[in-house]
Parts: sequence; structure tokens; C-alpha cells
Amino acid sequence: MIETYPNTTVLVHAAAERIVSVLEQALQAKETATLVLTGGKTPEPAYRLLGAPPLSGRIDWNRVQFFWGDERCVPPEDPESNFGMAWNAFIDRLGVPSNHIHRMIGELADVNEAASLYESAIRDVLPGREIPSFDLVLLGMGEDGHTASLFPGTKWDEARLVVANHAPATGARRISMTPRILNQAQAILFLVAGASKSRALAEVLGNPASQLPATRIRPVHGSLTWMLDDSAAGLMGDPKSEI
Ligand code: 6PG
Repeated sequence: MIETYPNTTVLVHAAAERIVSVLEQALQAKETATLVLTGGKTPEPAYRLLGAPPLSGRIDWNRVQFFWGDERCVPPEDPESNFGMAWNAFIDRLGVPSNHIHRMIGELADVNEAASLYESAIRDVLPGREIPSFDLVLLGMGEDGHTASLFPGTKWDEARLVVANHAPATGARRISMTPRILNQAQAILFLVAGASKSRALAEVLGNPASQLPATRIRPVHGSLTWMLDDSAAGLMGDPKSEI
């Protein structure tokens, strides 16, 4: 499903509303819902909307388990931290029990250990399935077609649920969920804005042979929705678009 919105402001309002609607639906069927947050700049205004009325009042946030799809290898108070961004944008005002907040321990010196610890943390909250299934996964996409911290030109163990990786442009170490677990989600929302994403997006959505990491996101059972602003969608359907 591809949805386009006239500008980023309209996009983030629609995204915040959709996040709440999906969580409401999940909470009608069960006691707790699991939400995987993405980092980056695009989602931040949507997160701020989640932290304030009217949207904040529509969910009993005590019934939500918060996870992150990826993290930079920095402490939580670092401006680069995906946990820190979401915490400051909305989670800090929800009064959520601390045992419902599952951040990746980006500051751990051994990134592989941090990845393994996170896999265990996921399984502790979501036991009983070979591959846990989240109710809602939020993702963004970089200009190079990366998603989470799965970057073009990098390799990861496809059998793992969470891996250590790095951003080739900077060498910065990262922790990331893998397609293996992301694709088990009941619902995946991509939030993509800005003309700088248009070429990668045209390839990811238009070229079946694309090897860009964002093309690896194909939910096994769940729904996949791309929420785009018109700028990001500007080259859709342009077969020449290859990055
Ligand atoms: C991160 C994100 C990453 C992000 C894209 C898009 O850690 O940065 O998880 O995958 O979603 O880079 O970021 P923007 O929304 O800032 O364009």
C-alpha cells in the first residue's frame, strides 16, 4: 500500500494518527501491544504528536511495549541516540513502566553482545515463537535505500534477529533488527519524506531486481504501508531511476 501526502506536515499528522489506530486495533484483541520505533528526523514530529492530546489520550500506553528497530552505538543521552530522540519526543511524558521500554544498549563496547542481549530481551517479552512478531514496526529509508541500520554494501547474518552493523559512509557502528524479524510484524509503516529520497524510493518500489536493503522488507503475513510526501514520491514510476 502506497499513500502520498502533499507535504511533510500532513504526512507526519497522518502517520501519528495511523500509529494510534493500529495500536488501538491491536489492544482490542489483546492485553499488550508491541511497537518498534525508528530513528531519524522524519518520525520525530510524529512522535511529538503521540505525546500530546488528543492522540496521547487514545492509547493506554501502559499496555504498550516499546522497542527500537535500530540504534547508533552511543549512550542514550547522546543527540545521535534513537532511544533518546523518541524518549524526548514523547515517551518521557507517557508514564510508561520502565520494564516496557526496551532500548538497545548502544553504549556497550561489544556491539555483538549488545545485539545478542537485545535478541534475548525481545524473546523475553515475546516468548513462544521461533521468530517473534511485533504488532507495529515503524521504518524510515535513507537516500541510499537503507532502512533501520541495514545499509547497502553491508552484510549481516540473515539467521539472526538483531545484528551489529555499521554505516559505510562514516564507519559508525550500529545495532539493527534484521529482515527476518521485521518481516514477521503484523503491520509495517515506512515513513519517507523529501526529494532526496525520491531516486531510492523509485528504485525500491519500481525495480523488482533492486538489491537495496529497503526492498528486503516484505512482511510474511502482515501489512506494508509506505507513507510518503509528494517530494519523496516525485520519481515514482520513472523506470530510469536507479541510484
Ligand atoms: C536511523 C534510522 C534510519 C532512518 C533513515 C531515514 O537510525 O537513522 O533508523 O534507518 O530511518 O536514515 O532517516 P531520516 O528520517 O532522518 O531521513
